[in-house]
Amino acid sequence: MTFRLATSADVPALSAIEEEAFPGDRLTPRRFRHFIRSSHSELWVHEDEKGLLAYILVLFHRGTSLARLYSIAVAARARGRGLARQLLNHAEAQAMLRGVFFMRLEVRDDNEGALYLYESTGYRRIRFLPGYYEDGSAGWRLEKHLSTMRVVPQELPFYGQTTPFTCGPSALMMAMRSLQSGFQLSRLCELNIWREATTIYLTTGHGGCSAQGLALAAQARGFDAAIWMSDESVPFIEGVRNEHKREVLRLVSDDFSHRCEGAGISSEVSQFTVETLREALKSGHRILLLISTYRMNRNKAPHWVWLVAMDEDFAYINDPDVDDTLDQAAVDNIYVPVSLENLAAMCQYGSRRYMAAVLISGTGRPL
Ligand SMILES: CC(C)(COP(=O)(O)OP(=O)(O)OC[C@H]1O[C@@H](n2cnc3c(N)ncnc32)[C@H](O)[C@@H]1OP(=O)(O)O)[C@@H](O)C(=O)NCCC(=O)NCCS
Repeated sequence: MTFRLATSADVPALSAIEEEAFPGDRLTPRRFRHFIRSSHSELWVHEDEKGLLAYILVLFHRGTSLARLYSIAVAARARGRGLARQLLNHAEAQAMLRGVFFMRLEVRDDNEGALYLYESTGYRRIRFLPGYYEDGSAGWRLEKHLSTMRVVPQELPFYGQTTPFTCGPSALMMAMRSLQSGFQLSRLCELNIWREATTIYLTTGHGGCSAQGLALAAQARGFDAAIWMSDESVPFIEGVRNEHKREVLRLVSDDFSHRCEGAGISSEVSQFTVETLREALKSGHRILLLISTYRMNRNKAPHWVWLVAMDEDFAYINDPDVDDTLDQAAVDNIYVPVSLENLAAMCQYGSRRYMAAVLISGTGRPL
């Protein structure tokens, strides 16, 4: 059976299959054209002499080892001949060529045929999604490790940042919630932590949060916090030219350092490694990790994520930055696999390769 990548000439035929296959939540011709052009997606089709019979659409998540099976449909006249199974095999093999090892997808709870197809090819249910679809129907999120099976932890806390500058508070909130089940993930909490932890300025726009600021915010909520950083100079200052902004950054950073010292928050100055991170995870710490987003979206922005777990091949992160424009639902931001090699490169920010992590433990102040 042969498959080829779709071209924009296929859009009318793709839309006809879509119309026939789905009662709602359909891909529009515009979305089809977008996915055909994008370098972050692959749309494969199969045809016979009469025209298109089936398609499969996979979206890639740059810098990570994760892909998302966004849609698959077979024309009614061609169903039940093993076409979907073969398309799926093909798309998975192509994804592996791109270094992808995990495929995720969502399926309606009542789509027995599709659920059977996925589960019989090795997909596992990882989360129930009540009210996920346009018409209020529930769905399932499924995942497959494309080389071996892997178990995804159930019910990991997730919080998507609601402003461009609150990745740090959002990552911290997820980590605190994982240590204290009653901890509320609210927007006010996100903004309050930012106000406590911000560097005020960054290259452009509002400042993000520094490791010291986040550690103080965690401690203020009754958690134990410690900091690892590669050097003690003022974080993020190298990208800021304006002298007034530089001075503010210095002032805030000095104040954070003094307050951390006064609060007994330990700061270790070292180039930590994947192995030291692994040891900290093993001893039960939650780790907030500063990464450069360059490998994910080609922006060299500093960004905080929660490093949830690691195994021999991958680190798994909860990334609070859900990018709607990339059609990235929160599903792609939970427990995202990143190869250890990528992780080592990602956690060095800027020209001076600044590294920072905040280690959180304890159970928090009683609520
Ligand atoms: C789901 C769909 C893609 C399956 O396509 P297909 O080419 O008919 O599937 P295949 O012939 O490859 O069948 C794969 C397996 O699933 C089973 N299967 C397929 N449709 C089924 C159904 N409606 N009920 C029960 N089992 C079904 C087949 O028996 C086969 O199992 P087997 O290999 O053990 O015999 C197709 O029915 C479709 O396009 N549906 C509408 C769109 C849709 O729901 N897409 C999935 C969104 S998540």
